[in-house]
Amino acid sequence: MTREATDLQPPYFTATEMPDRDWWVSLWPDPEGLLRRLGIRPGMRVVDLCCGDGTFTAPLSRLVADGAVIAVDLSAEILERARQQVAREGRANVRFLLADARQLADLIDEPVDVVFLANTFHGVSDQKGLCAAVRRVLAPGGRLVVVNWHALPRAQTPVLGRPRGPSTELRMSPEATRVAVEPSGFRQVLVTDVGPYHYAAIFETTKGEGEPAGERNRSS
Ligand SMILES: C[S@@+](CC[C@H](N)C(=O)[O-])C[C@H]1O[C@@H](n2cnc3c(N)ncnc32)[C@H](O)[C@@H]1O
Repeated sequence: MTREATDLQPPYFTATEMPDRDWWVSLWPDPEGLLRRLGIRPGMRVVDLCCGDGTFTAPLSRLVADGAVIAVDLSAEILERARQQVAREGRANVRFLLADARQLADLIDEPVDVVFLANTFHGVSDQKGLCAAVRRVLAPGGRLVVVNWHALPRAQTPVLGRPRGPSTELRMSPEATRVAVEPSGFRQVLVTDVGPYHYAAIFETTKGEGEPAGERNRSS
């Protein structure tokens, strides 16, 4: 970890420190292939929420091509690392926002196709509130993609010879994630294993519940 867990206080989510790069890169050898599998396509507008140091941001920027990525993180130091990684590739389709994920609905002025949230949801205290904020920035039919550690004991998820990831008690099963996300105006469309210890849960917006006021008025 770049910081001790105890260093991070609210408004940071619990146990969401950016992991050290050595074992993180070894855990995610092909982020671009993973994102393609999860449906990221050229032309999309994607929010990389709690983007960290850019492990997924740079591949997202390559995949969306003439689309756009909005990368949000609360740590200036970590966000700067993401910015540098994207800059090294000479890409200009990423906007970086130093902000609290809970303010998302106030930050995004145009609806997006996908909100990608990796390795963070386990630490969010008001998960329904965050999902409601995500719901408000998604275009009709837009998707929330949550990547989480499986609810395995931490001792059973070693990388480079040591147990890794959030504590066992914080980990969420796919079912617990579904129960937390769906009430904010989503229906789950896919759960699939990704990497040795993670799953991706994909949710699509439903009509009505959680829909921005403008959308409700248009469809009535
Ligand atoms: C475990 S890292 C995961 C980074 C990236 N999504 C990945 O999977 O490589 C979680 C990130 O969430 C950020 N974070 C924590 N609380 C946040 C908040 N309230 N708003 C925005 N970012 C936050 C941390 O600074 C950290 O960079």
